[in-house]
Amino acid sequence: MASALRLGVAGLGTVGASLIRLLSKNGDALARKCGRPVVLTAVTARDKTRDRGLDLTGVTWFDDAAEMARSADVDVVVELIGGASGAAEACVRAALTSGKHVITANKALLAAHGVELAEIAEKAGVSLNYEAAVAGGIPIVKTLREAMAGNSVTRVYGILNGTCNYILTRMEREGLSFAECLADAQRLGYAEADPTFDIEGNDTAHKLALLTSLAFGCKISADDIYLEGISSITTADIKAADELGYRIKLLGVAQVTESGIEQRVHPTMVPKTSAIARIDGVLNAVAVDGDFVGGVVLVGPGAGGNATASSVASDIADIARGDIAPALGAPSNVLTDYKRAGMRLHEGGYYIRLSVFDRPGAFATIARCMADADISLESIVQRRRRAPGSLNGAETEVHEAQPVILITYETSETAVRQALEAIEAKGVVADRPQMIRIEKLS
Ligand SMILES: NC(=O)c1ccc[n+]([C@@H]2O[C@H](COP(=O)([O-])OP(=O)(O)OC[C@H]3O[C@@H](n4cnc5c(N)ncnc54)[C@H](OP(=O)(O)O)[C@@H]3O)[C@@H](O)[C@H]2O)c1
Repeated sequence: MASALRLGVAGLGTVGASLIRLLSKNGDALARKCGRPVVLTAVTARDKTRDRGLDLTGVTWFDDAAEMARSADVDVVVELIGGASGAAEACVRAALTSGKHVITANKALLAAHGVELAEIAEKAGVSLNYEAAVAGGIPIVKTLREAMAGNSVTRVYGILNGTCNYILTRMEREGLSFAECLADAQRLGYAEADPTFDIEGNDTAHKLALLTSLAFGCKISADDIYLEGISSITTADIKAADELGYRIKLLGVAQVTESGIEQRVHPTMVPKTSAIARIDGVLNAVAVDGDFVGGVVLVGPGAGGNATASSVASDIADIARGDIAPALGAPSNVLTDYKRAGMRLHEGGYYIRLSVFDRPGAFATIARCMADADISLESIVQRRRRAPGSLNGAETEVHEAQPVILITYETSETAVRQALEAIEAKGVVADRPQMIRIEKLS
């Protein structure tokens, strides 16, 4: 057998500890598959005294991650600290500049510095692998980088945040409010104490930025992602979507259009018949449309120590076999500049929920605003809200705001925004209109 591949693991938290358990349980099988042993030689974390339930006998402890990365006893540095800067960044840079292979699960770091780090890795002739950074246990990086290399990709999209999918699934199944479901997600450990990063779509955006680069051969451009989270979604929207044949998911979508590449993260109505609509709870899914293969959908756990460690192990296996691929799927000197397609140019169907004052002419005003913006309506649903508890159990009509739901045919974002601004300005609605984009899926 060839010489052992020596690993230094930076970060012994959820993922780091799972990786060490995986190596201890499946290390022999991994060695057989790779044709060489894989051994843990060094570790680092913040607190040396913490009992992590791991057997680290014979493994060298480092107080400083960058120092470990430069150690002569390490061939591969596995960065599992997290964060776009600080110790994680220092560790990865030290490893690459010392000619060490790097494996990381850190989407925040790669979204911010991925292109530059890929260049450094290439110059040093080492790997920068990050299967675990996008959708945890789902092998989407390998799929895009290798399995779909023969395709021209037109769209990549997915459910990339389990916390949001858990909240939306429970809202739909149990009719609970967003706030109730978020509180439960926090109690169950699916959401952080400060959930902003998940529910406002930033976490999805980091992963989408990497998918975009891999799918379209362009530089990573995380700052160019249109972002809308799920906190404005109500049970009324979920119910209306259900009745209209849709489900609401937080999607990250990257798509080639005539004006460039759209990168967008927003709540999305997806047809109930689509594969993505059936992904429930904390599961993730990533779908890729390729010109030759057609549509491919990968489903699996997007987070959790074991699932994420499984992806880290696949990166280890590639390096152990000497399989060194360019980090972003193509050498960095051929990556194109990212050409942003402005969100205002986005085209698609739209769901619009209005709270319309029950006044003569209100409907005609809305219809006029839509027509002025050149928007054709596929359906209009009006529900007359009734006041409960009237005499003899009979209900009387409420003459206040009534919910009205509009579904548009394909139109542009500019047109929809223009129409909604006009409707608000005419004073016929009680609240800000709700607008959710509909994704065309087969
Ligand atoms: N958890 C998941 O399900 C998941 C899924 C996909 C990707 N990821 C990514 O995987 C990475 C790790 O996530 P995690 O959930 O395992 O995080 P975690 O549980 O918070 O663990 C972080 C580890 O980093 C160590 N650390 C913090 N600062 C350090 C420093 N300055 N020097 C050395 N070590 C330091 C911590 O040490 P102490 O233990 O001593 O505090 C801890 O062991 C992140 O990039 C995350 O985005 C996680």
